[in-house]
Amino acid sequence: MGWASRAALTLLAAMLGAMTLLALPDPAPSCLEGRVFDDRGAVPGARVRVQGTKICSRSDGRGRFRLSPLLAGRRATAWREGYFIGGTDSASDPSIFLKRLPSDDNSDYEWVDPSPSAAEGQNCANCHAEIYREWSSSGHARSVEGRHFRNLYEGTDWHGKPDSDWGLLTQHPDGAGVCASCHAPTTEAFGSRRIRGVASSGVHCDYCHKIESVADGQLGLSHGRFNLRLLRPKEGQVFFGSLDDATRGEDAYSPLYRDSRYCASCHEGIVFGVHVYSTYSEWQASPAARQGIQCQDCHMKPTGRMTNLAPGHGGIDRDARTLHNHRFFDGSQEEMLRRAVKATVEIERGQREVRARVCVWSEGVGHCLPTGFIDRHLILSVEGLTPDGRTVDSIEGPILPALAGEKLAGRPGRLLARVLKDMEGRTPVPFWLAAPDPPLDTRLVPGRIEEIHFVYPRHMARLRLRVWYRRFWSEVTRRKRWPNDETLVFEQVFSPPL
Ligand code: HEC
Ligand code: HEC
Ligand code: HEC
Ligand code: HEC
Ligand code: HEC
Repeated sequence: MGWASRAALTLLAAMLGAMTLLALPDPAPSCLEGRVFDDRGAVPGARVRVQGTKICSRSDGRGRFRLSPLLAGRRATAWREGYFIGGTDSASDPSIFLKRLPSDDNSDYEWVDPSPSAAEGQNCANCHAEIYREWSSSGHARSVEGRHFRNLYEGTDWHGKPDSDWGLLTQHPDGAGVCASCHAPTTEAFGSRRIRGVASSGVHCDYCHKIESVADGQLGLSHGRFNLRLLRPKEGQVFFGSLDDATRGEDAYSPLYRDSRYCASCHEGIVFGVHVYSTYSEWQASPAARQGIQCQDCHMKPTGRMTNLAPGHGGIDRDARTLHNHRFFDGSQEEMLRRAVKATVEIERGQREVRARVCVWSEGVGHCLPTGFIDRHLILSVEGLTPDGRTVDSIEGPILPALAGEKLAGRPGRLLARVLKDMEGRTPVPFWLAAPDPPLDTRLVPGRIEEIHFVYPRHMARLRLRVWYRRFWSEVTRRKRWPNDETLVFEQVFSPPL
């Protein structure tokens, strides 16, 4: 090594030394030592945190904790099972008092309205404006008043005309009370009378955040609220959630909120003997479940836009990646569907015919595609085109059934759906008139590739592959006079080699 490089090294070492000196933490004021206690004394094993950060530790056998370094202006918080979250009041007093959760659920509790109110009330939207906006545009907010739901429940059409076709109250009135347990969890009575007040907000904020644990009823048979244990206070408030450092004094942490089991009681349901809702059991069997990916990871993924849960109302600035969306979709369902549906085509041109091997699968979905309400379906259309763009029928391969609707029935393709039949074998039928035998299920199973073969005449020049998503059978949409809401989620044109 020459003298020049040796000098450079010495200089570098000196600079590094100076930098380490500069970067050394200031020990005394940034380290906080304190104690967690309750009405009886020390609370050992509490989770202690510098609020809004990842820095945490646990209180020891005598309730003492040490947190370092404490960021300027941040409080320390503590939580243990059975308690509200507590926090330090000031930097000079490092002790944290933990208040016990109420021991019993109060069934006389009055539900808080989620929507904004003019008065300085407890209404969630008054402080959580952004979360409220997201929730309002989600299905959870429409689970009672949604027009499709109402029409199918009451037997009305889009314009409110009674006795039109499918209707639970008209076709199976004895089953009227069954829907409330999931769709209107805060009402006892759910009959022909219209629900009023907070209960008409469906699956609302206050209900979801009073869920304390999952009961031990059999999933699928014990529906919605009958399988969820609540903790409603006699006085004051209790809000359970996934933050262990919210310190309004009314907040409590529960790990259940980051777990698929939280969603299971409402998203798994055998109704009138028919397995109508199977999203949770589909998830249990999925690669996502094996990798530990929960419903919330995909459906409540942070938008990255929210940095404060209650700006101007006591919320603190937080990392946007730790706050979850209440739209319950990553962007929108349409965007998720577009990202989820994948397909490739291999085309082989023979002497007299063209053979196509179509592969369809789903990606980034933690259950079958589609899932949810039993009438949801995808239509895969595999259309041959002549050089001038006219359609060519296939010679071999599956064709779409009448259920796909007038426009598409008989054309090459496949229906990806669960198809219920009634006792006489008729279809489509509402689930309340269906025979209990498991329906034919042709949906996309996560991790599995569907391979379908088609043969077209020689003059077929291109292949147009399209996938539509529909929420309801087209025949029902037509008879209910619903606006058409089918969504094209995949479209690609493939050309065979010359
Ligand atoms: C279907 C049940 C459900 C409904 C309805 C619901 N929440 Fe939540 N909420 C959750 C779950 C689950 C989490 C935890 C998400 C996570 O950590 O992955 C959560 C998290 C939160 C948090 C903690 C911060 C965060 O983003 O993780 C707040 C605050 C909150 N919700 C407020 C509300 C408000 C206000 C409403 C109504 C406008 C509402 N919630 C409606 C289930 C619900
Ligand atoms: C108290 C019952 C209940 C709980 C708990 C619940 N859901 Fe739902 N969920 C429903 C109902 C009912 C609907 C259907 C609303 C409608 O369209 O009528 C729904 C709809 C949805 C939708 C479709 C939303 C849309 O905008 O179309 C998604 C996604 C969803 N839930 C995900 C979840 C996830 C994830 C969880 C757990 C974190 C969860 N739900 C917890 C009852 C519940
Ligand atoms: C007066 C303002 C205000 C109102 C009204 C309000 N909240 Fe909050 N809420 C807050 C603040 C502030 C926090 C703590 C935010 C933080 O730590 O960043 C919070 C936290 C929460 C949490 C987080 C709990 C946890 O530990 O994960 C939930 C859940 C919650 N609120 C639900 C609700 C619901 C449901 C309603 C309506 C019934 C509601 N809030 C009404 C201000 C409010
Ligand atoms: C790996 C990500 C992932 C996981 C985990 C996941 N989902 Fe989904 N989910 C999706 C995608 C992507 C869609 C959009 C495609 C679709 O509509 O089926 C979706 C759609 C849905 C829908 C709408 C169905 C419809 O067409 O109306 C519901 C309801 C739903 N999921 C509930 C759940 C529940 C409940 C869980 C947990 C038991 C869960 N999901 C787990 C990714 C996921
Ligand atoms: C086990 C809980 C549960 C029960 C019981 C239940 N539902 Fe549902 N329902 C759901 C969930 C969850 C969804 C959302 C699935 C999705 O978005 O695909 C839903 C969606 C629906 C939809 C689609 C709404 C829309 O706008 O797309 C209709 C219609 C419906 N349910 C009717 C009923 C009727 C009628 C009953 C009573 C006979 C009933 N449900 C009972 C959980 C339940």
